[in-house]
Amino acid sequence: MALNKKTRIKDAAFRRCLSVVVVTLLGVFLLIFLFQTNTVSDNEIQYSNEIDQDCELTNNYTQLRREFNLPKQNELSILLEKRNQLPPINLDKFPKLAKDHVTIVLYVHNRPQYLRVVVESLSRVVGIGETLLIVSHDGYFEEMNKIVEGIKFCQVKQIFSPYSPHVFNNSFPGASPTDCKEKDDPIKQRCKGNPDQYGNHRSPKIVSLKHHWWWMMNTVWDGLKETCHHSGHILFIEEDHFIFPNAYRNLQTLAALKPEKCPNCYAANLAPSDVKSRGEGWESLIAERMGNVGYAFNRTGWRKIHRKAREFCFFDDYNWDITMWATVYPSFGGPVYTLRGPRTSAVHFGKCGLHQGQGGSNSCIDEGTVNIRVEEIDKAGNIDPKWGVHVFEHQTGYQAGFRGWGGWGDTRDRELCLEFANMYHFRGRTSP
Ligand SMILES: *[C@@H]1O[C@H](CO)[C@@H](O)[C@H](O)[C@H]1NC(C)=O
Ligand SMILES: *[C@@H]1O[C@H](CO)[C@@H](O)[C@H](O)[C@H]1NC(C)=O
Ligand SMILES: *[C@@H]1O[C@H](CO)[C@@H](O)[C@H](O)[C@H]1NC(C)=O
Repeated sequence: MALNKKTRIKDAAFRRCLSVVVVTLLGVFLLIFLFQTNTVSDNEIQYSNEIDQDCELTNNYTQLRREFNLPKQNELSILLEKRNQLPPINLDKFPKLAKDHVTIVLYVHNRPQYLRVVVESLSRVVGIGETLLIVSHDGYFEEMNKIVEGIKFCQVKQIFSPYSPHVFNNSFPGASPTDCKEKDDPIKQRCKGNPDQYGNHRSPKIVSLKHHWWWMMNTVWDGLKETCHHSGHILFIEEDHFIFPNAYRNLQTLAALKPEKCPNCYAANLAPSDVKSRGEGWESLIAERMGNVGYAFNRTGWRKIHRKAREFCFFDDYNWDITMWATVYPSFGGPVYTLRGPRTSAVHFGKCGLHQGQGGSNSCIDEGTVNIRVEEIDKAGNIDPKWGVHVFEHQTGYQAGFRGWGGWGDTRDRELCLEFANMYHFRGRTSP
């Protein structure tokens, strides 16, 4: 009896214990499940189901315009949109891209003298034949096209922003006769527009830069069949960036080292964030704040940016890079670092960068040739994978809280910008 009772007590204790274990385990499983569901809905996986896996793109513009509130297009705009569907050139000479290639996107406006220098520098880049070069044009300019069509050293695809203000000569996004200018009062002057925080109305030539950058980002990540499956990095350069012969190999090294050497780095850079610096020359990798010369990131990075479309599109600053520094990166909730080598592999040579000289198209042409000396050490990859990482903390620059330089106050610009972020993400699924 006693034994029996004891067993029963033991039994009951065991059962209680078991139920505690079971309940705990169930709880843990539930938590893991909830956590995973949460991560999934928060992450790029949600997008990959939507876009990356099937890469469902349309070339039915009637439908695009119906679903999205895009401006009424003129003939040139429609033509450019169709031209964007053309396959890359040089497929005969370069039929295949290397498995680990880094796509290069060169974004340009209308400075042919500069573009010639950049293309010449790219022609000497080791490994360039392994990849695809996408040239994204803000506006349609024959002289620029000729230079790009003459490239022979890799696959090349041209794309043109169909909604560039330069493509519209008498309607939004270009200048329309009914628009307010400078400090016009919309009521007194009976004109259209919303002034920025400093009382100035939009200038189509100036807003075109930020529009182009955003259209290009959305298009190369989510809107082109050539890149919508690309899982590696994409490098972004501009028409006044001289590229060193070792840029491509260095970038491949940086991209490969990034997860191990700097898991918090969100990008890799060819050049220091201080555009005047050529690097420290140390035997060390450098992690520092994001720069705007030769930056590369992967789709994970793009998803983070794309989720901040509202921040990007509503910030009253016409500079895409200042918008990123002052509002998008700070909203990531932690320092945003980029990884680079100790010697630069790209140099910004333009006399008039993005932030000045927006006037006439010829106002900032430098007559002299660009004289950038490439030393022997910069002709081949010069990053040692065994190096450690030096982190530059608390660098100065635009920070969260800066309210912007203005130039981006018009509701129509802000909404067009948001449409660019939405237009490759169809709401209503249509049958293929
Ligand atoms: C494009 O989409 C519209 C609206 O959904 C449809 O009526 C039209 O037939 C489509 N055109 C083509 C070429 O698929
Ligand atoms: C606008 O462009 C069209 C065709 O590109 C041209 O026919 C027209 O004259 C231009 N209008 C102005 C005001 O420049
Ligand atoms: C992008 O790079 C980070 C590391 O820097 C890595 O964790 C992430 O998985 C990469 N994303 C893709 C889509 O490969």
